[in-house]
Amino acid sequence: MNMEERLTQHLTQKRLVAFTLNGKAVELEIDIRHSLLEVLRNYGLTGAKEGCGVGECGACTVLIDGVAINSCLTLGTWVEGKSVRTIEGEMNEGELSPVQEAYVESGAIQCGFCTPGLVMRTTAFIESGEHHGCCRDDIRHEHAGNLCRCTGYSAVVDAVEAAVEKNR
Ligand code: FES
Ligand code: FES
Repeated sequence: MNMEERLTQHLTQKRLVAFTLNGKAVELEIDIRHSLLEVLRNYGLTGAKEGCGVGECGACTVLIDGVAINSCLTLGTWVEGKSVRTIEGEMNEGELSPVQEAYVESGAIQCGFCTPGLVMRTTAFIESGEHHGCCRDDIRHEHAGNLCRCTGYSAVVDAVEAAVEKNR
């Protein structure tokens, strides 16, 4: 095998990766070059979106062990042994999560492209406990990594405030 063939073989390696996905144990054969976003979308979970692909927009936000991350910047193989949550896992027995409800009730959704990422960001914010005593500026700061081209953000901040209220 020549050098080029060896390099190609190395770059197309796949690895079995075991992790928890929305509460269920899974073991996926993952191309070592693929981001977590590609892995999730190829698996059929298309809630997380690719907006920029370079960590600027937050449309790809999912939770790893409760922390909101940009899945476009995370290699799929890095989630070995971890717990990954996506928007698809947030409904419970057909009911929206309190955060999802707050977004709907506050009219914080227009085209919806950014919404899965924002909802996951808000979910992490509330579950971390950092929301206690927060003001609107704290909410804006916490969600600064998630861009929305439609809502003008006021409704998003309203939604997060409403979600915080539901968790008091
Ligand atoms: Fe990941 Fe924009 S697609 S931050
Ligand atoms: Fe359209 Fe946010 S609702 S980008």
